[in-house]
This record gives sequence, structure tokens and C-alpha cells, in this order.
Amino acid sequence: MNRIYTLILGFAALISSQFAKADEGMWIPALLTDNHAEMQRLGLTLSADQLYSVNNSSMKDAIVRLGRGFCTGEIISDQGLILTNHHCGYSAIQKLSTPTANLLKNGFWAKTKADEKSAGFSVSFLVKIVDITDEVLAGVTDANRAQTVAKNSSDIRTEYSNDGAYVVDIKEMFSGNKYFAYVYETFGDVRLVGTPPESVGKYGGDTDNWMWPRHTGDFSMFRVYADKDNKATKDYSEDNIPYTPKHHLPVSIKGVEQGDFAMIWGFPGSTDRYLSSYGVKLATDKDQPARVKIRRAKLDIYEKYQEQDEAVDLMYAAKHAQVANYWKYFIGQTKGLKRLKIYEKKQSEEKAFQDWVDAGDANRKEKFGSVIGLYQDAYKTYDEKTLAQTYWMEAIYGIEFTGYGFGFAGLKGLYQALGNAKDDSSKAMIQGQINQTVDGLLGSTDGHFKDYYKPIDKDVAKQMLNFYVNDIPEDQRPREFNSLLSKYKGNIDKFVEKLFTTSILVDKDKATAFLNNPSSKKLKKDLGVRFSEIMLSFYRKDLQAMFGEAGQKRATADRLYKAALFEMHPDKAFAPNANSSMRFTYGQVLNYSPGDAMLYKHFTTMRGVMEKYQPGDHEFDLPEEYLKVAKEKDYGQYAKEGEDLRVCFLSNNDITGGNSGSPVINGNGELIGLAFDGNWEAMSGDIAFEDELQRTISVDIRYVLWCIDKLAGAGHIVEEMTLVR
Ligand code: ARG
Repeated sequence: MNRIYTLILGFAALISSQFAKADEGMWIPALLTDNHAEMQRLGLTLSADQLYSVNNSSMKDAIVRLGRGFCTGEIISDQGLILTNHHCGYSAIQKLSTPTANLLKNGFWAKTKADEKSAGFSVSFLVKIVDITDEVLAGVTDANRAQTVAKNSSDIRTEYSNDGAYVVDIKEMFSGNKYFAYVYETFGDVRLVGTPPESVGKYGGDTDNWMWPRHTGDFSMFRVYADKDNKATKDYSEDNIPYTPKHHLPVSIKGVEQGDFAMIWGFPGSTDRYLSSYGVKLATDKDQPARVKIRRAKLDIYEKYQEQDEAVDLMYAAKHAQVANYWKYFIGQTKGLKRLKIYEKKQSEEKAFQDWVDAGDANRKEKFGSVIGLYQDAYKTYDEKTLAQTYWMEAIYGIEFTGYGFGFAGLKGLYQALGNAKDDSSKAMIQGQINQTVDGLLGSTDGHFKDYYKPIDKDVAKQMLNFYVNDIPEDQRPREFNSLLSKYKGNIDKFVEKLFTTSILVDKDKATAFLNNPSSKKLKKDLGVRFSEIMLSFYRKDLQAMFGEAGQKRATADRLYKAALFEMHPDKAFAPNANSSMRFTYGQVLNYSPGDAMLYKHFTTMRGVMEKYQPGDHEFDLPEEYLKVAKEKDYGQYAKEGEDLRVCFLSNNDITGGNSGSPVINGNGELIGLAFDGNWEAMSGDIAFEDELQRTISVDIRYVLWCIDKLAGAGHIVEEMTLVR
């Protein structure tokens, strides 16, 4: 294609974008025909059926959910090769690493399939999506809503499960105005094929995270395995062979230009685009600042120990990344919500809604007149008590032994039940459950302690409990915890020291010895187990009770408010919030202006990688090998004649966490990039989408291929793919 032609096409695409409403919206694949004409206008050449079809192979068959939806991956060869982000594979790669064989630090590429390493997570393929709204809502009244929905959902789950072969997710959309069943087939044998070194895969670290311009090679590769009949298996087996997929994405190395059509398919986790002004205020004033404070304190402790010892650094790499990612996210989101005046915008939307209700007939008033009052009531409770919940999640659950202890707390309960059991058959049944629980705990203990450093958890426990006691009113904490602490005269340090010298939960040898010879007596005495037990029960009972009524009111208001919006704007296409179900978003490759007089180009290049390079820095260092290969500027087929190698690019697609690893696909259904982040100026995007500002950041697929081929010398992996030149 010559240059003039490209320019004209780009221009035409930009003009049409002013009329078409692309960008915002994570759409449901089964309803794709609603968007198809507009997608064609923007440059899509495939039919709706080629994208999503239940009976024939289609593009959706190349999109996989990682685990229960922590990330997305795509199939890019006929041998089950999966591409996803480096930060999605991070935890698996770290678990496979040791100080002497450090895959995270040095990178890794399997020479042959026999060298591929079991990854420890599953992937799921989407079988179909069914609108089940009528079935779920059959027989529902205001009084029986929750129970009836639950009962109907459970029947539907059984109906679609294909005798247990499929997993059925029932997804509520628009706060209960719609329901969809998502049917999946899960493959339990996934193996690591390769990863660049962390310095490339996480280049720029937390400094560059959530920001443009970006120069990160955020990718890693896995492979899905099946049995010899190409059927899913629950677990890893030596006898399994690479899965032959129904579809794999061809890979385009033709390049990506401003205005090009771009769509992204994947599993966005959660958005809150219809959040009320009350919710926005709660987030910016209370919830988010608390999360930032707690996470920062945790990170400071991690970092203190990580800097001292390389082995500890590796142990806490994934935990640190996870805490840091949303530490920065919440800082950005609070700032963004305030700067973009989202509270005020929501207020005026609510005013327009109320005016519409007031101008309506008696029926409208009857249906929707209560909404704002319900929000006000509900948020009275949230304003008073929300931090009890936030601190439980961030601080209490942030102490590592707490979560590990939940299983032991369960075991303690079983022993109690055993003591109370009357007849032999119930005794035998409970004993069976005890044995099962012990086996489960034995199975997870090695993994838990591989990445557990007691001095860190002890410092974290002290800091977290100090926050908890100082910031949460006594009557919003577990009574049993308050009295436990009073035995130490409220001295948290003393309490924590005692716990850490005695509990079986913080010491691998003690935990293992106990599990090999479990006894009710030991559990009863253990301070750590007691603490976990108190906190688990508080979460299940007291916190649920604290927000039960407020939660109901908010849910009702949400459902009615959305129903009202549909009536107010009958011609508008509304997209449901993300909820970890497969969605697609479409738009264009597009630059943006982050502020007055500034224009951010839509792509970055190797020049920028080298400009950011800082020898010895923990975020911007590069391996010697990289420097050597980069210097050769041998970009081969991965850059246009005379051009620098492109690294990352922008598009106006609508994504969020869970979409990480999602394919960016051109109008012909070919892979052009790998989505991995959003931009700083639009961090409020999960609550309010700003057309002018919000962008998806992706790695250019050509940088991915260059890293595999030229940097790692793993050209055999590229050969597996279907390249479109
Ligand atoms: N912000 C990205 C996301 O949530 C994760 C980026 C990972 N990189 C990092 N430096 N932690 O998808």
C-alpha cells in the first residue's frame, strides 16, 4: 500500500469516527449483530458469524480465559500456543523460578515441547452465551427476588453443564435487568513456553505502570494441552499432547497506523460506569485513600527486605507487583475522578433523572420515585462503616498467615463437630472431612511457604493491626479480637511477637509436623488459628449483617435506575458493566492529547527504550544481550524498511483489568498487538469513560516477534504461527 493511499484511508477513518459511537462499551459477543454495521464502517471485513458463532468455528474460539478470569490469552498457532501478558504469566513464572534457575530474571524459552513447564493455571474456552433473562426472572416478585433468582440460576446451571463437562457462569447484567449464561470448557494442562527477562517484560516497572509513553515487552507464552483425543483434561499429564484449537489468530506484521480499525476481545473484570454520585464520593473521600495508605505501608515493608536479599526479592516479586499495581491505580483513580469532576457530572445526571421522574405520570413516579432516597439511605450506612470492610480486605487479609489460617480454622470447627457428633455414621463422615481438609492443607503448604518470609509477615502484621485498631471504631471490629488484644493490654507488638513465636501458621516445619499428626488440642491453643478463625467468622457473619440492608437498598436502586435510563433514552445502546465475562470492544488506533498544547503520538519505538535505559536501575536496566542485539538494529521483517522498530501503540478501545493479555485484532481478524494497560489521564475510566482521553496501551506484535526471534533466538516459535505479511 502506498503512502498516499494510507493517508486517505486514515483520514476517512477519523472522519467517520465522529459519527460512529465506537470507543466506550464492552459488548456481549452474542449480541454482536447490533454493532456489526458500525464495525464494518470502521474497517471490519469479517462477518458477524466469523467473529462469534456457536455452531461453526469462529474468532471467539481463539480467545481464552486464564483461570477464573485473572487475565485473557489468545491462541496463535494450530498447536495450542497461547499469548498473554508477562504480568499475567508473572506469578506462574515466579513460582517456576529459584535463585539458581531464575526464569523471571533471565527469561526462558523451551527448546522443545518436552522442555515446556507446567504452569499451574487452567484456561477456558467459551462454548456459547445464552440470554436467559426470562428463565432467571420466572416467578420473581419483589419479595422473593433473591431466592427465586438463585433457584432458577441453579437449575439453568445444571441444564447447560452437559453432565459436568462444562462450567456455567450465570452473569447478571444491568443490575438484574438482564441475565446471560456463559458456558465454558476448561483445560487444566497449561505449560510455560517462554518469557522474556523481567527487565523487558516489566520494563519501566511501577514508574511507567499505568502510563504512556510506554516501552514494555509485556508478553509471555504458554501452551494448552489435551488428551490424545484432543479432549480437555482436568490436570497435567505426561501423556497429554498440544491441543488442536478450532481457530487460531493469524498474526499480521503489516503494521499499525493511526485510524486503523482495532478491536479487543477478552474478559474485563469489573467496571462501575453507572455508579451514583454517592458512590463516587465514598470512593474518593474514604475508600480509595485508605487502600492507598495500607498498600503503601505494605510495599515499604516488602521493599525493605527485598532490597536486603535477592532470594527474598524473588519470593515477593509477584506479591509486590500485585499490591503495587492497584496502589498506583487508586492514586490515579482518585485524582482522575476529582480532576474530571465526575462527582458533579453524576449529580447532574441524577438531577436529570429526578426531573424526568417528576415530569412523568403516576406510574413512572410509582416505579422510580424511590431511587434517590434508597441511595441516600444506603450510603448513610456505607459512609459510616465502609472502612470496616476495606480494612478487613486490605489490612487483615493482607497479613499472609490470616488467609493461610482459614483452612486451619475450618479444621478446628470440624474437630468441634466431631466432639459433638452423636452417632458413628456422622462421626465417620466428619472424620472423612477432617482427613480431606488435612490433605488439602498438606498439598498447599509447600507452595505457600516457598514464597513466605516470616520477618516480612511479622512486620506487616504489626503495621496492619495498628492501622486496624487506630482507624476502625471498636464496635466495628470483632468483639473476640478486641478481648484477645486486651489480654496483651492492647499492645499489638506483644501480641504479634507471641503469635509469631508460637503459631504453627508462620513456620513451615511446625505446620507440616502438625498436619502429619493433627490434633484438636493443638489447634485450640494456637493463637494464629484463633485470630484467623475470628476474622473469618467476622467476615462471614458480622460484615454481611452490617451491610445487608444497605446492600439491598443499593441493589434495588441500581436496578431501577438502569431500567429508568433505558426508558429515558430508548434509542441509546447501553453496554453492561464488565463482570468477568467475554466481551469485545472496538474502535481505532488513535493518539491523544494529555493536556493543553500536548499531543501524544500513537506509537513508541526502540529509540524510547534506549532513552529510558539506566544501567543498574531496578526498573530501567536492560540485559547485556538485549543491548547487543538492539545495537545491531536487525529488525528483519518486523519493521518497515528504514523505520525504527515499533514497541507499543494506542487505541481507543474500552478495556479494564482482566483484559490484560487480550488480543488487539485488525479488520481482517489478524493479531496486531497485545493489550496490557490503560493511561494515567483516564484512570477514572472504570467509573467514567472519557472519549477524548481514554486509551488502551498495547505491545506491537512485531516487537513481541522480534523479542522471540532476534533477542531470544527462538525462531521456531514464530514459525508455528500463521504470519500475514
Ligand atoms: N497496570 C497493568 C494492569 O493492571 C499492569 C501492568 C504490569 N506492570 C507493572 N509494572 N506492574 O493490567
